[in-house]
Amino acid sequence: MLVTANDKFFQKKQALAVLKHGILRRYLPIYATMTGSTSESGRVVYLDGYAGPGRYEPEEPGGVGAPGSPLLAVETAKRVQGWKRDLHCVFVERDPSYVGNLRAVLAEAAPEGMRYDVLPGDVKDRLGEALDLTGDRPLFAFLDPFGTALPYQDMVERLLGRGTALKTEVLLNFNLGSVWRIGGLLTGDEAEPNGENGRREAAISRVDAFLGGDWWRERFMAARRGEVVASRAAQEVGREFCQRIGNDAGCGSFTVPIRRHPNHEPLFLMILFFRHDAAPYQFNEAVSMANAEWRGLWRARDLDADLRADRERRGGQEDLFGNSLIMDYSEQEAQRAETLLENQWIEEVAENLRALTIQQVAIKIRENMSGIFGRTLGMARERHLRKAWDQLAEEDVLDARPKKGKMLWQTIYRRGR
Ligand SMILES: C[S@@+](CC[C@H](N)C(=O)[O-])C[C@H]1O[C@@H](n2cnc3c(N)ncnc32)[C@H](O)[C@@H]1O
Repeated sequence: MLVTANDKFFQKKQALAVLKHGILRRYLPIYATMTGSTSESGRVVYLDGYAGPGRYEPEEPGGVGAPGSPLLAVETAKRVQGWKRDLHCVFVERDPSYVGNLRAVLAEAAPEGMRYDVLPGDVKDRLGEALDLTGDRPLFAFLDPFGTALPYQDMVERLLGRGTALKTEVLLNFNLGSVWRIGGLLTGDEAEPNGENGRREAAISRVDAFLGGDWWRERFMAARRGEVVASRAAQEVGREFCQRIGNDAGCGSFTVPIRRHPNHEPLFLMILFFRHDAAPYQFNEAVSMANAEWRGLWRARDLDADLRADRERRGGQEDLFGNSLIMDYSEQEAQRAETLLENQWIEEVAENLRALTIQQVAIKIRENMSGIFGRTLGMARERHLRKAWDQLAEEDVLDARPKKGKMLWQTIYRRGR
């Protein structure tokens, strides 16, 4: 099914979407499986508040476009059926042409008996209905707007606050660009919007509503006065936003920067809001693997650019043997680069563990994710932690790692406690 809308965003699956979808595709099945184990009939609800048309436009005429978040949810629903989980998907979309496309895409892809609802309109207006459909079942909400998302009050009181005894997680794609562009109207770095009077005020008020007040204005302007670049100033606003939601809704957050290119400043922050203490560990696994996929994409793109430049130098002639040699070589290079990175992470995690064991005898893994992983959070994962732990056990710094049981539930003990 093709996307008919002419919006550039859906015309090609962008690098940004690879990481975003890589995380969603890996984490949603974990959430559904874990929370569905105690839910009646294994029922879990996925709410996609800004669903889009369901599928991207194909890269080539006649091809099949990459799946958007709704199709990834359908894939997840099919997968978790095997573990007796029933993922009920609720999609909200404001653009009528996307709604039509979404319905068609879902009719084609959803398996027999899969429960799903498409609610056309503004997510703020349809939230009550979505929550009624959810009842007291576990809920995973994905909020992926182009700009600002649900007003703060709705996020804190209706979504995250729907009951502390109920299982709820929200994955928000926080658009840094809209904060720094609209923040730029305050500092004078951005030109005043053309058009009717009041557009500037309306844009600023939208950010106020999303961030829960005008506190962010001074935070952004102070950062800019201190010569902090606009994207970093927006990240500071994002950090405080997480703290505020954490305090007001009583939940934790895990933030992943989303970049267009490895050397660029992030354009988005993917933020998971959670209550269960297993969430950061599981989410980190998903993020680490999605980041590895994303690095692979960049290597492939760089290689593609090199090969194209090479072909141009030879006047369009294919080099029958050379290219395959370059590919082989690059594959080896890629593996070498990954191994180097992974070794650095293991070193860093080992250093963090060493420092933690000076302060405490016992380190519960799931409660010490930041302390254990430090700067490698979102990059390193279980297998790197395992290696660091084994290394320190060999050095008699830590007790040996139990060979049974999930790492998530384990505690690391200082040797000779
Ligand atoms: C970034 S796109 C979503 C992409 C989709 N989540 C995916 O990964 O394939 C944002 C979508 O939200 C829709 N939208 C914008 N504001 C909305 C609102 N207030 N309520 C519901 N949908 C909205 C837009 O029409 C657009 O299709």
